Amino acid sequence: MRTAGWTEVCRLDDIPRQGARVVATPKHGQVAIFRTLDDTAFALEDRCPHKGGPLSQGIVHGHAVTCPLHSWVIDLGSGEAAAPDKGCARRIPVRVEDGIVLLASGAQP
Ligand code: FES
Repeated sequence: MRTAGWTEVCRLDDIPRQGARVVATPKHGQVAIFRTLDDTAFALEDRCPHKGGPLSQGIVHGHAVTCPLHSWVIDLGSGEAAAPDKGCARRIPVRVEDGIVLLASGAQP
């Protein structure tokens, strides 16, 4: 851990662009960390708000992911499903520092 409240997860380069990696966390459960084409990292609970599909196995496009099960589109920044679908995947605070991905390990936001 480099900073209180944040836990190192992996290097950003360990995640393919437009891909994801799943990490098991004691606090947040299975978390999908996404890397977009512009090298932004996002983290969501790896559970689609529709029927629990693994968002980490979806297709990343822009700052969104399409669920592999029934193709809901989930905004990576907000976790919200695109209209007309309704639902929200839980976001986990994430940041990248010196190429290292850090997840919030402290209290829920
Ligand atoms: S479980 Fe994700 S769209 Fe149905």
